[in-house]
Amino acid sequence: MIFVSNKKPSQFSGDMLVYFVRQAVKKSAPVCSDGLIQERIDKAWKLGDCTGKKEECLLVYPEQVIDGVQAKRLLIIGLGKDDLDRELFRRAGGVVAGKALAVKAERVLVVLPEELDFPASDMAECLSEGVVLGSYRFKKYQKKDEEDKDVTLKRVSLFAAHSAGPRLRKAVKLGTIAAEAGAVARDMANEPGNVWTPKAFADFAKKIAKENKLKCKVMEKAEMKRLKMGGILGVNQGSVEPPKLVMLEYRTGKKVPTLMLVGKGLTFDSGGISLKPGAGMQDMKYDMCGGAAVMAAMQAVAAEKPKHVDVIGLVPATENMPASTALKPGDIITMYGGTTVEVINTDAEGRLILGDALAYGLEKFKPDAIVDLATLTGAVIIGLGHHRTGLMANDDELADKIMAAGETSGELLWRLPLAEEYSEQIKSKVADIKNIGGKAAGTITAAAFLQKFVDKTPWAHLDIAGTAWGYTEKPYVPKGPSGIGARTLIELVRNWKQ
Ligand code: BES
Ligand code: ZN
Ligand code: ZN
Repeated sequence: MIFVSNKKPSQFSGDMLVYFVRQAVKKSAPVCSDGLIQERIDKAWKLGDCTGKKEECLLVYPEQVIDGVQAKRLLIIGLGKDDLDRELFRRAGGVVAGKALAVKAERVLVVLPEELDFPASDMAECLSEGVVLGSYRFKKYQKKDEEDKDVTLKRVSLFAAHSAGPRLRKAVKLGTIAAEAGAVARDMANEPGNVWTPKAFADFAKKIAKENKLKCKVMEKAEMKRLKMGGILGVNQGSVEPPKLVMLEYRTGKKVPTLMLVGKGLTFDSGGISLKPGAGMQDMKYDMCGGAAVMAAMQAVAAEKPKHVDVIGLVPATENMPASTALKPGDIITMYGGTTVEVINTDAEGRLILGDALAYGLEKFKPDAIVDLATLTGAVIIGLGHHRTGLMANDDELADKIMAAGETSGELLWRLPLAEEYSEQIKSKVADIKNIGGKAAGTITAAAFLQKFVDKTPWAHLDIAGTAWGYTEKPYVPKGPSGIGARTLIELVRNWKQ
């Protein structure tokens, strides 16, 4: 969908030509690299219609003789006057997509503002990311009305007068791969719980393994029983959908570090016997967003084939349903590896399935580092709202790497502490640990529970309950699932050093 073009903007006769302008510091019109278009901007600025403010749009229907432009539409987008960063261009890409779809423009040429003091390759990468993510729609289950039919962005070309084509093409590819991973994660989350079942995770993994020569193994219930995975089996007890532990391996074939990614794949969380209130329960189909991020990231890793790191993706997948066979408050279960857990609340189920996956993955794959992602606690929404993912880690270096990857991807995180005091809260009188630690520090005690299953391996836990959906609205993030985590993981893999 995104291409690098060397067609001069004046020769482009497509649906929409896009320029970016900065807001002038002093009271003056924003400056455009094209002299004729500058006259348009000056006029609009005098009327107060084009100030260059961030994400402000001026849509013009140009005349070739006046503007020297053959395109059907001309869009001038403001970049504001703050410091330039990657997020600004990602958002700008989202604005391009939003406007283009609104006016049904299918062929768009975007002129890179190379005169600005910012690397053109970062601009190209982030604009591409923003355009792809910003044009994301999920309309699979709705009848198409005649008006909306076939409105897609067919071709968005980037034009840069001074930058080398191959470098820009590489940047576009990086941006596109990451954005498509985000879109894949959104697709999985948008699917309803009756469609996106544990089996759907398994089928997806098998499909990408086949397409990309990844190794895939799906552990079924019988083997879980044999291995005594009491966590995932316990949570699954009330469901008719069989549980799956989905495993994907990307191997370089060289002696390189191994990074293990684990995602909570709870395809519907009713709470189980500790049933959730009815209002809003439909949103619990999103309780698989950690798993979606891991699967989407694995697909991107398989496409990029990094040479410096092996990557393992693990998704424990099940529903959490009430039934006469379901886990009950007070039950004691034995996790993979032998730790016993007193189940106080069956709605704190994510940690039970993740505990098994972490312990098993650690033993089987012997990773050098582990990152898990999970919509784990409502408490993280109370603490950080929908604007930051909660990060907890037993290793500062790994935590810093993830913070940096989040910053580069525009998926911000905030670190919370982990310490012995929090582990105290989950001590049980009748078992080794219990599955909730009281009201106080709910996000951290959930992480303290997971920590029991990673031994001393560098590990980080991302609580994405607040950011996986209902995330801060941005031009490239619609309402609904955000696809959070996939791009951070891809960035982490791209820059992995150990
Ligand atoms: N899936 C939920 C967490 C969640 C809540 C995600 C709201 C997104 C939005 C998780 O399984 C859960 O129910 N956690 C409980 C834990 C409690 C019982 C200790 C919670 O947060 O209320
Ligand atoms: Zn729950
Ligand atoms: Zn849950």
